[in-house]
Amino acid sequence: MKRIGILTGGGDAPGLNAVIRAAVKTADHQGREMVGIMDGYDGIIDGRWRVLTAEDIRGILSRGGTILGAANRGNPFGRKVMRDGQEVIVDMSDAFMAGFEQMRLDALIAVGGDGTLRIALELCQKGLPVVGVPKTIDNDLGGTDVTFGFDTALHTATEAIDKLHTTAEAHHRVMVVELMGRDAGFIALHSGVAGGADVILIPEIPFDLNVVCRAVEERAQRGRRFSIIACSEGARPVGGAQMLARAGDQITAERLGGMGQRVADWVGRNCGMEARCTVLGHVQRGGVPSPFDRWLATRYGAGAVRAVAADHFGCMVALHGTRLVDVPLTEALAVPKRVDPEGEPVQMARELGIVFG
Ligand code: F6P
Repeated sequence: MKRIGILTGGGDAPGLNAVIRAAVKTADHQGREMVGIMDGYDGIIDGRWRVLTAEDIRGILSRGGTILGAANRGNPFGRKVMRDGQEVIVDMSDAFMAGFEQMRLDALIAVGGDGTLRIALELCQKGLPVVGVPKTIDNDLGGTDVTFGFDTALHTATEAIDKLHTTAEAHHRVMVVELMGRDAGFIALHSGVAGGADVILIPEIPFDLNVVCRAVEERAQRGRRFSIIACSEGARPVGGAQMLARAGDQITAERLGGMGQRVADWVGRNCGMEARCTVLGHVQRGGVPSPFDRWLATRYGAGAVRAVAADHFGCMVALHGTRLVDVPLTEALAVPKRVDPEGEPVQMARELGIVFG
């Protein structure tokens, strides 16, 4: 009998609980035991885990968040600890491997984005039998057509754009909505097109604020006295830098934020129209997963247990077209996925009259 551990790392995304549920059910069907590790990789080092039973997963399919907790600072290769009253960063990967042994686990399923899966790959190189599951609302992971969480985030972002449309039109305002996605513009591009945005600013296409202003003014001249601008948090002007809400350090990733407000301020000052910014933030990560995300997350959870059963370690379950496949983690992490500025979706949006600045 195989005893399999499962953890959810990095920022949460809608569908994490659906993965856990599917993994527990599939493992049970195969006569295997599933162990839930709390708060990402930290749970193994700290010995925080519990065997997951049918009772634990009852009613969680449609719940956002994760019953296991998540930690996007939990890296066994660099953990912040207090020594002699000082914060120091220590490699605890050996303690992690020892903890894994003590738990008598035969394999680990790591559900996460690029950070979590990169750690999984490093641990795999140390001998950990691990299978990855691709999660992130940003959809920026290579090796798979789509990550779970993205579809729900799109629903949330598109609904927000729809709502901003009606108030923008009523008040003759320019509404900028700042969307998540880190260095990838998928959320802004897809929700911008789905919500009928007039301008879409994404990290992959640096923008010129004069071009943005011209687009807004031209619309006003045509009698459309309002505009919607979907702005990625990672968007940046030509020759300029992304805006940071907080700088990063050895442990904590930098936090992007502020570009939406900057665009709104510029438009308000230069286009003779009132402009406001809405930062959608973590709303995009929360809530009930969409049916597509539940479906995809369920396939991923079941597929990960099948990969463990086949001793297929060092891989990530992935969607290729309609097929569920296993891809090596090295391949999935080789190149991050980005919007292709020359690709058909951007081309199509341009043909619809959407301005990328
Ligand atoms: O990667 C998912 C994501 O939500 C990004 O879109 C965003 O930049 C980041 O995480 C925010 O992370 P945190 O919750 O740590 O601020």
